[in-house]
Amino acid sequence: MSLWSRHKIFETNSIILLIGTLFVISIGGLVEIVPLFYLKSTIEKVEGVRPYTPLELAGRNVYVREGCYNCHSQMVRPLRDEVERYGHYSLAAESMYDRPFQWGSKRTGPDLARVGNKYSDEWHRDHLKDPRAVVPGSIMPSYPWLAEREVDVGRVKEDMNVQAALGVPYSPEMIAKAASDLKTQAATDDSNATTLAERYPKAAARDFDANPQRITEADALIAYLQMLGTQVDFKLYDNKANVR
Ligand code: HEC
Repeated sequence: MSLWSRHKIFETNSIILLIGTLFVISIGGLVEIVPLFYLKSTIEKVEGVRPYTPLELAGRNVYVREGCYNCHSQMVRPLRDEVERYGHYSLAAESMYDRPFQWGSKRTGPDLARVGNKYSDEWHRDHLKDPRAVVPGSIMPSYPWLAEREVDVGRVKEDMNVQAALGVPYSPEMIAKAASDLKTQAATDDSNATTLAERYPKAAARDFDANPQRITEADALIAYLQMLGTQVDFKLYDNKANVR
């Protein structure tokens, strides 16, 4: 029996052909998938990316609660028009501590992945309270309650525990100091600002809502927005990429 006549078995029996097809496809699949199980992480490590501070994490929770992701993406794609408008395209590492991720799927408003340091805190305060006060004709809803409601400081510790269980590298010390770190970051010139910066490099600490009496959800949300896209130093990153 020649090789070709043995192939006839497949060609004349649809069940055997199906099993044979599945077998061949699964080899291709395994070759692609199995190596991933042996990698510790599929995300390239990038200098500067750190877990969120307790205040930023609280702000991120407000962002999720208010559904900002329904209108805003956080993912600059590597396309020329996007890079020119928003800045460097997003790296996988930049959202490695985002659980759940905030890439979004709709841009009624602009992408926010690089909005940090683009505007002043005052601009954000006015914009959140009434977007039309700073951007005439804006269709973004107003969020006046954020400046009134206090941050639930007690909850931040629990949130950090959950994030740690999911793999975010919060140390027991970071979790123990959650409440005091949160207060330090929401104040201008707090004496603990240096220890905060040791735990969370480049964390900006100031009174984001300009109300020193209270730590409001506006404090938390603005701290979060002002940090977005600022962790990685792209001058360093692109230089390294060119050397490689
Ligand atoms: C109904 C859709 C919608 C929702 C929901 C929404 N926004 Fe917006 N947002 C917009 C639009 C449209 C703009 C552009 C006009 C403007 O600046 O107000 C915008 C602009 C912004 C900007 C300025 C971006 C830039 O680069 O100029 C920020 C910051 C922002 N939104 C934050 C938020 C936050 C935080 C939330 C949730 C509390 C939110 N938005 C909810 C539609 C929305």
